[in-house]
Amino acid sequence: MATKKFAGPSPYTFKDTYPVDDYKHTEYVNNVTANIKTKSQAAPVVGAIFGLGRAGSIHLASLIRNPRVILKYIVDDRVERFAELKNYWKLSDDVQFVTSKDADRVYKDKSVNVVFIGSPTYTHHDIVVNSIANNKDVFCEKPIAENIEDTKKCYEAAKAKGKALYAAFNRRFDPAYRGLRDRVRKGEVGHVQIVRVTARDSPLPSVEYLKTSGGVFHDCLVHDFDMACWVLGELPIRVQAHATALIPEVKAIDDFDTIAFLLSFPSGAVAIGDNSRYSAYGYDQRLEAFGNKGMIKVENERPCHSTEIVIGHEGVKQTPIYYSFPSRYQLAYKLELEHFLDVVQHGVPMEVTSWQTLAVSKIATAAEESARTSKAVDIDWSKDAIPAQYS
Ligand SMILES: NC(=O)c1ccc[n+]([C@@H]2O[C@H](COP(=O)([O-])OP(=O)(O)OC[C@H]3O[C@@H](n4cnc5c(N)ncnc54)[C@H](O)[C@@H]3O)[C@@H](O)[C@H]2O)c1
Repeated sequence: MATKKFAGPSPYTFKDTYPVDDYKHTEYVNNVTANIKTKSQAAPVVGAIFGLGRAGSIHLASLIRNPRVILKYIVDDRVERFAELKNYWKLSDDVQFVTSKDADRVYKDKSVNVVFIGSPTYTHHDIVVNSIANNKDVFCEKPIAENIEDTKKCYEAAKAKGKALYAAFNRRFDPAYRGLRDRVRKGEVGHVQIVRVTARDSPLPSVEYLKTSGGVFHDCLVHDFDMACWVLGELPIRVQAHATALIPEVKAIDDFDTIAFLLSFPSGAVAIGDNSRYSAYGYDQRLEAFGNKGMIKVENERPCHSTEIVIGHEGVKQTPIYYSFPSRYQLAYKLELEHFLDVVQHGVPMEVTSWQTLAVSKIATAAEESARTSKAVDIDWSKDAIPAQYS
């Protein structure tokens, strides 16, 4: 009886509210009320996708389930997979499979207004440029191109034609990471002094992939650098990186598998990161912001949160963390597609801007230089077209 006095009024008298963080409930409410205002009324885009490997398959799964997109072409060179893909996804004959040597059919098809690129990095520049020259908006897996010069050319082409060019920094659309950034920007932890980014890959990518990946700094760490800048809203003026290759096959191709970095920002904040090509226990993705008023951190997500602990003689166990990027960032991939479609169909401002993509590329180049020379590298942004107010 001691607590009965705290019972208060009947819950039926309460206003029905729920936490905004429950984005799945928001989706449910929109579905149950058929909230037409949350649905795009634009005519679907007609799309083509290049490359159906690891990344391309994720995007294909989103595209064919999205009513805002009519998929017309799939471009890949693994012809032997075409029949099984058509059968697996139950694609109609309206979806045409072509190889890259016939890509002109896609470029010249005026009904195609959007191109999605999930092919290897070294193919991006040509596909971007050809697509834009033929008036198509482009969603491109990161990085946009193999080097800064080619990336600039892609953005210049997009600007000249007034076309959208989106670089797929999917982590920005992860609800947990976005929540951390929003809270930081509201001042919940005050002046941020340290950002920590941990990104350890799983499973180990094939050596064939690594050979064409552009190196770990441009392939993986671009995501980490983007996270740090995106959370802090500023660009680093000094980069220090230490990198080693502990896996013989990685060493043999003159790349790195184990990296630690430190970015120094004009505000006095630092970003510390650790990155590995191979994490034996799963896809380890964490983000933390430490400020003078507190700390916010995003820990690893798990497929079965509700089955958290098994206790036995061997100690305490939790369910494993997500194994790899397709599962950990499943929602982020879907949300980045929705954002891209909002840009193309409704003129919403692009969240991943050209100067941000180029800046991240420049940071990756400086970090690799630091790792290879064992020296800190200062970055001068005065000649880059960086807006005075980073957002
Ligand atoms: N954002 C992310 O989370 C993420 C994750 C993985 C890969 N990526 C990026 O996606 C891109 C592809 O990586 P992946 O791991 O999927 O590679 P992958 O090797 O698994 O797949 C590449 C596919 O492209 C096909 N291909 C090759 N040349 C082509 C061409 N000219 N036209 C059309 N298709 C072609 C190949 O046959 C293959 O099916 C890379 O740029 C990589 O950086 C991004």
